[in-house]
Amino acid sequence: MCGIVGYIGSKSALDILLDGLTNLEYRGYDSAGIAVNIDGMVELYKAEGKLQNLKDITEANRTHITKSTIGIGHIRWATHGAPTTINAHPHSCNCGKIAVVHNGIIENYKELRENLEKQGCVFRSQTDTETVAHLVAHKYAQTNDLTEAVRLATKEIEGAYALCVIHQDVKDTIVATRRNAPLLVGIGEGEYYLASDVPAIIQHTKKAMYIDDNQIVTLTPNSMKYIDTDKNVLEPKIEHLPWEPVALSKMGYKHFMLKEIHEQPDVVRNVLSGKLKAIDEKIKLDEVTLNANDFKNLTRIQIVACGTSLHAAMIGKYIIEDFCGIPVDVEPASEFIYRRTITDKNTLVIGVSQSGETADTITAVRQAKALGSHILIVTNRPDSTMAREANSLVPVNAGIEVSVAATKSYMAQVISFYLLAIYMAEVKESMELSELNKLKHELIVLPQKIEEVLAHKESIKACAKRFANAKDFIFIARGINFPTALEGALKLKEISYINATGYTAGELKHGPIAMLDESMPVLSILITGKVYEKILSNSEEAKARNARMIALTNSTDEKINDLFEAIIRVPEIDELVSPALAIVPLQLLAYYIAEFLGKDVDQPRNLAKSVTVE
Ligand code: AGP
Repeated sequence: MCGIVGYIGSKSALDILLDGLTNLEYRGYDSAGIAVNIDGMVELYKAEGKLQNLKDITEANRTHITKSTIGIGHIRWATHGAPTTINAHPHSCNCGKIAVVHNGIIENYKELRENLEKQGCVFRSQTDTETVAHLVAHKYAQTNDLTEAVRLATKEIEGAYALCVIHQDVKDTIVATRRNAPLLVGIGEGEYYLASDVPAIIQHTKKAMYIDDNQIVTLTPNSMKYIDTDKNVLEPKIEHLPWEPVALSKMGYKHFMLKEIHEQPDVVRNVLSGKLKAIDEKIKLDEVTLNANDFKNLTRIQIVACGTSLHAAMIGKYIIEDFCGIPVDVEPASEFIYRRTITDKNTLVIGVSQSGETADTITAVRQAKALGSHILIVTNRPDSTMAREANSLVPVNAGIEVSVAATKSYMAQVISFYLLAIYMAEVKESMELSELNKLKHELIVLPQKIEEVLAHKESIKACAKRFANAKDFIFIARGINFPTALEGALKLKEISYINATGYTAGELKHGPIAMLDESMPVLSILITGKVYEKILSNSEEAKARNARMIALTNSTDEKINDLFEAIIRVPEIDELVSPALAIVPLQLLAYYIAEFLGKDVDQPRNLAKSVTVE
């Protein structure tokens, strides 16, 4: 949530900042701004709305702004104060010499602001961030040292923050610090970059250092001073970033979401690679540190996650219980953290997160860790805050996901849960070998089946056109595909703003059926297997109430042709692996409906890619 970028070196900062913000736009898009230092003066450029508005303003002053070789930038997802130009970052102090960009929430900003106002500070915005600018200015007035001023300020601010600060009188310096919000330093030749996420800097350098909580870096073009907030000097841990810049290109697709949907066959191959080598070999999960004895002692598994990751977790519950016979609870992390935490050393706690930076999930795993539970993190970002809490890690290897609506990361999480569940079943010897082998085979052939679905996307597009004007949408399924119904509904509502809900098909008759009439599309996920006949009768019940019926099915059964107005077909697949296939047409359906409605697919309103506030 919110994106930060910074540059100090010998190049012009402007395009580095704007390109960095472009690659962070998925983190927020309410407003944007930059601060530069030109001829010894800090100048702010800010604009409400999409980044393009800031680009237009800076373009008009390009010759002037390009003189600066230092700068900080910000893209905002509003928490405190409306998304206006005044509330856009960077923020400054009374004298205008300081500029601050901030990601996170300053929890005690009201008290700080009252205090600072008493001391003569004049606030221009409604943001929590502006307090930091005034506070640092006060500390600077006392110390005449920017690092010390930032350090003293961090002793008074509570909450979560990643901060970058510049001061007009120290024009070759950026000071940055963080607590519970991500921030990394990119290292170049005679230059440094700062960013809240890798995409902002990956085109410039792969050499980087992650700043940890309560640490401060002071950057000049040729030096990096690295201390903690108690002034201890720290040894930088320089890492090689394993990302490719090409991940940030749309590769000819109209939207990142469509490109990422199409990447899914390769994502499945990547996730399986090195872990599932052959049907008769056991699954290898190198970073899972639990041994057979630990598994024997496990009494329960608790999974915590949010949004799409929560739906992947629900599939995880289904298959772990089915394959291993261990009871699994799944709870939204945002609920888990506000009630008594009942986990112990015999509970395995699994946190699932694409970004690894979701505040609710981080808090949940930390609470469980404090009670002695083993923490296993399933994430697309092994470099994230959440991954650093892990005792065991399952990196999902989906590559950078830019679209706010998660697609390929969901696929990677679901496949990772299959690997984990089979791995556990092998350790516990809780499943017949022949069944395990069948599952492994299904996973290995899955990419071709996804490719088949993608090859028939025109028929899904036609279906989308037919139903794009619906005001509401219902998705029904049972058993292992209930989370698929929830995820299909979430995809549709987040990018098209159509009110979509997923129900277990059996629950329809207990209330939701009252909503059905000739204007309501009901999409049944009808996969052959245990509950096929049941969903078929639930679909008949819906049809009898005049609902517009759509089937998503692998069935060749002719009797469904009269029941459904539209049929989306997927290849034959084992019910147990079907969620990984059935989600693909639903992602495409949501995509094409949003496209027909002219929505901003990659950047839906009110959302941000990684939600770093609780
Ligand atoms: C997915 O399409 C959503 N944008 C959202 O629900 C997301 O899955 C959720 O915020 C959790 O994020 P995480 O996986 O990064 O923790």
